[in-house]
Amino acid sequence: MKKKNDRSTLLNSYQNLIDISRDLASELDLNILLSKIVKAASEISDSEEASILMFDPAKNTLYFQAATNLDTQLNRGVIVPLEESIAGWIVQNQQPVIVDDPQKDKRHFDSIQNITNIKVNSLLGIPLLSKGKMIGVLEVINKRGGKFTKKDQDVLMALGAQAAVAIENSRLFLQSDLIGEFVHQIRTPLSALNAAAHLLKSNRVDEGQKKKMIDIMEAEIEALSEMSSSFLDLARLQSGRKPYHVSQFNIRELLVECYDIFYSDTQEHAIKFNLDIPETMPRMLGDRKQLKQALINLVNNAIKFNHEGGEITLRATAKEKKVFIAISDTGLGIPKDEQPKIFRKFYRVRSHRDQVPGTGLGLAVVKQIIVDHGGEISLTSEVNVGSTFTITLPLDKWQDESAI
Ligand SMILES: Nc1ncnc2c1ncn2[C@@H]1O[C@H](COP(=O)(O)OP(=O)(O)OP(=O)(O)O)[C@@H](O)[C@H]1O
Ligand SMILES: [Mg+2]
Repeated sequence: MKKKNDRSTLLNSYQNLIDISRDLASELDLNILLSKIVKAASEISDSEEASILMFDPAKNTLYFQAATNLDTQLNRGVIVPLEESIAGWIVQNQQPVIVDDPQKDKRHFDSIQNITNIKVNSLLGIPLLSKGKMIGVLEVINKRGGKFTKKDQDVLMALGAQAAVAIENSRLFLQSDLIGEFVHQIRTPLSALNAAAHLLKSNRVDEGQKKKMIDIMEAEIEALSEMSSSFLDLARLQSGRKPYHVSQFNIRELLVECYDIFYSDTQEHAIKFNLDIPETMPRMLGDRKQLKQALINLVNNAIKFNHEGGEITLRATAKEKKVFIAISDTGLGIPKDEQPKIFRKFYRVRSHRDQVPGTGLGLAVVKQIIVDHGGEISLTSEVNVGSTFTITLPLDKWQDESAI
């Protein structure tokens, strides 16, 4: 009797697995895919939580990428040491492992508890391998009403095999999509360079025209080089290959730093630059470097799309475990019908394209960083009056009550 029950639950697990695999194979958005995998893993193994750690072969590190109990993406990118963790052991040995009492296992990585905020009583981890290549580790934690068995391990291995293929597919799709767009975008500057080079070679231009041609070429080369580096940033962020380095930091200090970076730039353009931040702001947890990049992109735009004699205000407040950062300018503004499009990769407002140089990637990078921090970005703007970009970031449970 017992045997039959075991058999039918096993059959159920595999039937479940077939349904899940079908769903995973059609999901191309990497972050959605990873959350589907962890959800499926915890259901199929009847465990409390599941998480995925990705392996970065270039840096030989493992980092958190998805977990069932993470309500924001903040822990994404937390690096787990290869040497002192069960996940690291799985990567190095390319084998699954069942640990009944991880607290007593010397491979256990203590901070895992801080990261996932749960006490780990039992753990089953498997390697995620695609065509023999190590992609990462899938772990399920705390089996409900018992211990993990060899059967759980087999079912999870079967899910892991499907999941690894789906992750590789989604990465390849993302790359082909991005590369296609990039190639399309570099065509214009390349043909301008080509035309200028031809003219220079033809000897049909006088000295004055020659100098103009060279100026054009320099500007196009600079545009191409800026486009390449912003593009690389975005590709890394979107593919989930760029681990986030999370730390706790002072928001006020970060904003003052951004203010200082641009102060002399604003003065050169006779722009009044205001800073309006309360003396005490809560500390927040996030990737400081990435958030700084997002703010830099926004202030840079506020200057670029402004007038001589205009004004910019960098404002911040904190309320109910959230921080609000607003960057307002008195510049060109953005027409209503184009406002929803400006966060798209390479999108530039029609009327600005010939007036102001840019690649149209800055805001796509900003959006990705903010969303990865569990935040939102919104915009109010009126043509020839100005624009305000507002970022809302959760401080959440990580808020340090002792404001400094
Ligand atoms: N503060 C602003 N005021 C008016 N228009 C803006 C502002 N910020 C962004 N825009 C519009 O949105 C478009 C997209 O902005 P984004 O920062 O992505 O690109 P960019 O500044 O043109 O190039 P870059 O990749 O160098 O940042 C801009 O080209 C511009 O038309
Ligand atoms: Mg920009």
